[in-house]
Amino acid sequence: MMINCKGSIVRNDIYAPLCHCLGIKVPYQSKIVAGQFVYVLVQKTTYPLLRRPFSIYDVESENKNGSTIFDILFRVVGKGTEILAQKKPSDNVDFLGPLGNGFSVSKSSEMVIFIAGGMGIVPLHLAARQLKMKEPQKKLMLFWGAKTRSEFGGLGNFEKLGLDIFLSTEDGSLGKKGQITTFAETYLSGFDNTITKRVEAYACGPVPMLNKIIEIVKAKKIRCQVSLESKMACGLGACGGCAVKLDMGDGHFRYSRVCSEGPVYKIV
Ligand SMILES: Cc1cc2nc3c(=O)[nH]c(=O)nc-3n(C[C@H](O)[C@H](O)[C@H](O)COP(=O)(O)OP(=O)(O)OC[C@H]3O[C@@H](n4cnc5c(N)ncnc54)[C@H](O)[C@@H]3O)c2cc1C
Ligand code: FES
Repeated sequence: MMINCKGSIVRNDIYAPLCHCLGIKVPYQSKIVAGQFVYVLVQKTTYPLLRRPFSIYDVESENKNGSTIFDILFRVVGKGTEILAQKKPSDNVDFLGPLGNGFSVSKSSEMVIFIAGGMGIVPLHLAARQLKMKEPQKKLMLFWGAKTRSEFGGLGNFEKLGLDIFLSTEDGSLGKKGQITTFAETYLSGFDNTITKRVEAYACGPVPMLNKIIEIVKAKKIRCQVSLESKMACGLGACGGCAVKLDMGDGHFRYSRVCSEGPVYKIV
């Protein structure tokens, strides 16, 4: 278990333009569930003041000396990620984690469908890899959409895992042209009740994409978990800054802290 940790950077690989994979080593054994995240202090100055949250992309445990190396994969979008992108091997980094819950896999499913928008791919990679290891008999399929072809950092890692992969881009530069939700919906529309009972879906991406996925899985009664993003402050469930309004159905809503009660939510 890690909570407030100092890690050491072991690699900074560029997977695509502005898309970096940082390997972080900690001198502990740690059990990490796919969907959990780390809350990283990008540098010890007053700006950027807040830590930055990143899902865990991959984990490898080095049993010999009891250490763990985990990867985060991020897109450079502002000051914090700009600073992180400049980290070099042997630089130190402070973080809290692993935080939040993770995906929980249903024993009865025979097929898992991953649906990602852009960097929403990150938690789904660890989920796919852990599933491949633990339950190799399950059929795994990935629907991944992005704006353009340069946003598919780490695609080769999914190809290596042997998933069935369907890609789409908004500009048509890779895969089919259009929104990934359209293609996922068409694919799922071919499933009857006997199949949907044996299927589950995991999704992560922008809110409009997730709203569409929620509509689709509810209509088809497909078990589904989505991973949400929200702006965070404490990262530990204390401040309420990350709260999102959840629609509980029948006109009822409740607020939930993404950092401690999420970021993964069961939909169906
Ligand atoms: C649970 C969780 C997991 C995430 N996983 C990943 C990931 O695996 N890969 C990845 O590339 N990105 C991920 N993000 C988004 C990532 O945290 C932001 O891109 C990052 O914080 C931007 O920091 P910045 O200083 O570079 O950008 P800023 O200049 O601060 O802002 C750029 C954009 O990032 C958003 N942002 C800024 N601070 C936060 C914050 N504390 N929390 C959430 N959003 C923020 C802003 O609204 C703005 O849209 C995740 C976010 C959450 C909440
Ligand atoms: S960030 Fe403070 S409660 Fe979630």
